[in-house]
Amino acid sequence: MKKIVVLISGSGTNLQRIIDCVESGEIADTKISLVVADRDCYGLQRAENAGIPHQLIKRGKSFSEKLEKIVPEDIDLVVLAGFLSILNEQFCKKFQNKIINIHPALLPKFGGLGMWGMNVHNAVLEAGEKESGATVHFVTAGIDEGGIILQQSFEIGANETPEGLAEKVHAVEYDIFPKAINKILNYK
Ligand code: GRF
Repeated sequence: MKKIVVLISGSGTNLQRIIDCVESGEIADTKISLVVADRDCYGLQRAENAGIPHQLIKRGKSFSEKLEKIVPEDIDLVVLAGFLSILNEQFCKKFQNKIINIHPALLPKFGGLGMWGMNVHNAVLEAGEKESGATVHFVTAGIDEGGIILQQSFEIGANETPEGLAEKVHAVEYDIFPKAINKILNYK
């Protein structure tokens, strides 16, 4: 059985999707051994409701060091599911090729510092992009710079709003994130 740790900062709808897919077997032969949040958030409640061990480590300078102490050495994958802190180089190196993130745009466009949440969707619309989507990628010490694992796009309609875009991107995330996790864990 594979073991994953999920890191969150927010409402955790992607975490919920992962929980559901682990239960249904869409993410096969896998257990979520721990959920860690870097701030108090609803995602922790989702972990609690699902009976998954969870922990809050307040964001700040020593976050990565504290996280390193509680992530099992033999973890198969660390999944960032709407996680806003930056992991330090030591953590990224220790778990190289074992950390993945979901980004709400088509990387390498609209990534990097400050490109999170509604900032991303506002930037995409302001740039007059014809399409957006979501990207699952490996995490390295450089923000949003790791190799792309899976990406899915859709056309942006006329008069699209940032909120509408966020909703459509979320739907894509719910589709590709579990697929990417299952692929990495079970079809290496
Ligand atoms: C997602 O859009 C993800 O791409 C981004 O943060 C959002 C998290 O949403 N990194 P949720 O907490 O899973 O609902």
